[in-house]
Amino acid sequence: MALELATPTVDGLSSAIDALRDWQTDGSPHQLHPGDLGWFWRFGAEKTAASTRVWSRDGVVLAVGLLDEVDMLRVALAPDALRDEELTQQLVTDLTQPERGLLPAGKVYLESPNGSLLKERLAAEGWQLDAPWVPVRRDLTDPVEDPGLRVDLVGTEEAHERALVQRESFAGSTFTDDRWFTMADGPLYADARCLLGRNELGESVAAVTVWFAGAGKPGYLEPMGVHRIHRGRGYGRAITLAAARTLRELGASTAFTYTPASNVGAVATYESAGFVRQPETRDLVREA
Ligand SMILES: CC(C)(COP(=O)(O)OP(=O)(O)OC[C@H]1O[C@@H](n2cnc3c(N)ncnc32)[C@H](O)[C@@H]1OP(=O)(O)O)[C@@H](O)C(=O)NCCC(=O)NCCS
Repeated sequence: MALELATPTVDGLSSAIDALRDWQTDGSPHQLHPGDLGWFWRFGAEKTAASTRVWSRDGVVLAVGLLDEVDMLRVALAPDALRDEELTQQLVTDLTQPERGLLPAGKVYLESPNGSLLKERLAAEGWQLDAPWVPVRRDLTDPVEDPGLRVDLVGTEEAHERALVQRESFAGSTFTDDRWFTMADGPLYADARCLLGRNELGESVAAVTVWFAGAGKPGYLEPMGVHRIHRGRGYGRAITLAAARTLRELGASTAFTYTPASNVGAVATYESAGFVRQPETRDLVREA
């Protein structure tokens, strides 16, 4: 049977999510984590399904894409399909022909795993490397040190504080209480935790969301931030340690995330919390 590209229904998302979980192993290249869909779920189940693409052959899922923006596709591949000729051909066709309805004409971005044939083919077609990102990873075999900060698990009572810290951490954030509830009602949040760090006055100063992909698999931090008026006091390091501890308690093998190389403070914060820099990754960009 030929390769099929489909936009799943909300119910049909489960096979894409299962595949993303399955593909997360410590040996495989960094790629789209189920937590990315979980975080996207803040926009609602319908939008998450409408922004997801699944490539399968004979009913076996080989690639999952998330349209993070209309001009930005993030693709994860089955580890044994990283260099699959037929799949690569299909992806190149879908990505380069706007009439396929995947990406528009003009400037577009693609995130895909290092080592994929897809990256090589698109580079050969003239796609350029975009700015570098730094993956960071902490092994969770050994216990994680105490963060030295009061850290609360976010429930419905704390949702408004978690949303506020998000907005005060990331310029331009559109996160709201409603979006937190939408995300937390989603199926992926069953494997997630939001943590809120508090200073000695009890004020919420830092927040992180962690996503568990199963026992012995890499867990993921997305997003992590410190309220802008509380920076430079060690809260970023502390909430990152708390995230790693939580993922370890859940049974994750490692904790990882990515940040733009230009976000020097974030890279320093992860390193300060025992995360180790991994080889940089770059999206591909097709100029208009
Ligand atoms: C990045 C961020 C979390 C840092 O929070 P913070 O509370 O100020 O960080 P900390 O005080 O815990 O600092 C941790 C380490 O990073 C270093 N650091 C923090 N900001 C830095 C900066 N802008 N430049 C260089 N180093 C920096 C600190 O010196 C410290 O290093 P040390 O432990 O070796 O002394 C915060 O600036 C933030 O929320 N930024 C916006 C959101 C974001 O980028 N999130 C992460 C990417 S998803």
